[in-house]
Amino acid sequence: MELLEEFNSNLENLPSDVYYPDDDSYLLSGFVSTLAKGKVLDVGCGNGLQSFSASTNNSVESVLGIDVNLKAIDFCSDFSKKAKIPNCSFKRIDYFDFIKSNQIKFDTILCNPPYLPTEITEKLQGQINEAFDGGIDGRKFIDGFLSTVSNQLTSHGQLLTIASSLSSIDKTIEVLDSLGFTNRILGQKSFFFEKLVCINSVRK
Ligand SMILES: C[S@@+](CC[C@H](N)C(=O)[O-])C[C@H]1O[C@@H](n2cnc3c(N)ncnc32)[C@H](O)[C@@H]1O
Repeated sequence: MELLEEFNSNLENLPSDVYYPDDDSYLLSGFVSTLAKGKVLDVGCGNGLQSFSASTNNSVESVLGIDVNLKAIDFCSDFSKKAKIPNCSFKRIDYFDFIKSNQIKFDTILCNPPYLPTEITEKLQGQINEAFDGGIDGRKFIDGFLSTVSNQLTSHGQLLTIASSLSSIDKTIEVLDSLGFTNRILGQKSFFFEKLVCINSVRK
């Protein structure tokens, strides 16, 4: 069985408080499997779709998936063992703690961030909240992530990320532009309530 087919059939074991792959996940993973290269960091790996998609690309040397949700990390590690994937590892850590001690530069960074504008009363119970909660304007994680990501990349490194109209695609592109990235929209999906885009960013 192909790895991603095996991944999809294993989703029946996904704990309910880990993000189930959705349109945003599949929009990103389609580009990840063709464009990921070298040392890859998957920020907020969740169910692991981005990490496992990257691992199918022969240009990928290794993949490190990180997430704050322990159940996500256990799920990814178990599947990785079961499917005998040699080049993926997973670690439970908050991205903002990870970057304080990380010494490695990555060739590719993947991120499908939590991007939903969320009022205090809209917060979900348990770890699943981290998958969605972008704070009041949806940009709490995104802005912190964007302002630090360049430092984690090699000089020819690339970022593959998702942005949503619910938390301003234009703002994300503006910020990336101001940080010295050249940005390409690789693909998009539109719904009556939301537009999602997949952005590929490289240094100018
Ligand atoms: C929208 S989900 C994406 C999951 C998966 N990568 C995908 O594409 O389906 C966002 C993920 O980011 C994780 N996350 C949120 N804040 C984080 C942080 N500060 N550090 C690490 N992971 C975080 C959540 O736990 C969740 O698994």
